[in-house]
Amino acid sequence: SLSVSLCLSLSLSVSLSVSLSVSLSVSLSEKSVSSKSTPTDLVTEADQQVEDLIISTLRERFPSHRFIGEESSAAGEKCVLTDNPTWIIDPIDGTCNFVHSFPMVAVSIGFAVKKELEFGVIYHCFDGTLYTARRGHGAFCNGVRLQVSKEKDMSKALILTEIGAKRDPNTLDIFLGNMKKLLSAPVHGVRIIGSSTLALCHIASGAAEAYYQYGLHCWDIAAAAVIIREAGGCVIDTTGGPLDLMSRRVVAAGSQEIADYVVQQLQPISYGRDDHDP
Ligand code: IPD
Ligand code: CA
Ligand code: CA
Repeated sequence: SLSVSLCLSLSLSVSLSVSLSVSLSVSLSEKSVSSKSTPTDLVTEADQQVEDLIISTLRERFPSHRFIGEESSAAGEKCVLTDNPTWIIDPIDGTCNFVHSFPMVAVSIGFAVKKELEFGVIYHCFDGTLYTARRGHGAFCNGVRLQVSKEKDMSKALILTEIGAKRDPNTLDIFLGNMKKLLSAPVHGVRIIGSSTLALCHIASGAAEAYYQYGLHCWDIAAAAVIIREAGGCVIDTTGGPLDLMSRRVVAAGSQEIADYVVQQLQPISYGRDDHDP
């Protein structure tokens, strides 16, 4: 049942935190770091190990379920969401932070049935906070109920975003142009913390009003989308339409007003889809 799954993933996240905390104390020179799609798209041995641990543990309990994991996808497994129960896993979100021991690193596990996100768990490995949500049952941080910001005035908003792996001049120009537009709106501030999942958790907790990103993946948003919605927020496409998990685009906000405002400011950056459609 779903509650069994939820309990399992919670205890899994906690036990993972123990192994990750050990890795976190390892110095940069001792971490085995390599790159994937681009020189700035980093991966460590720990990313693969954590994903293997999560998938093997869950597969033993739920042999018929499907899995989408960042490292399995990087190794060539198809990233397609079907109607079957599917776990969507980012074993280490914020790998660049992890490599530098910058304290914003998380494990993210989402679960979907019939393409609908049912629950999400995000574990902040450095400070031990556990964000959880189940559709229709609220969102929590270490058991305390989460509530998004009620701010509707953009001039009082704190906005979060992430850069993504593409760093060609044109992409960077659009990225900076979007930030400039928001900063000169003016909003209170724009922040980049290096972990999409934790940034999204800050929207759920009301610490910031909106998040937008081009180039994130389904495993960056699956768990967080449930957590934000259950905290009363909205998660949509950068075009203003409904979220498409595979589209690599998102706007999340405490209020529809703020989300709509952000949507209007953004110039799009195009990324290929996670499910490899053109
Ligand atoms: C990345 C981080 C980063 C964001 C990228 C993500 P990873 O995840 O969340 O902040 O800009 O889009 O892919 O590679 O550390 O799991
Ligand atoms: Ca990752
Ligand atoms: Ca990630």
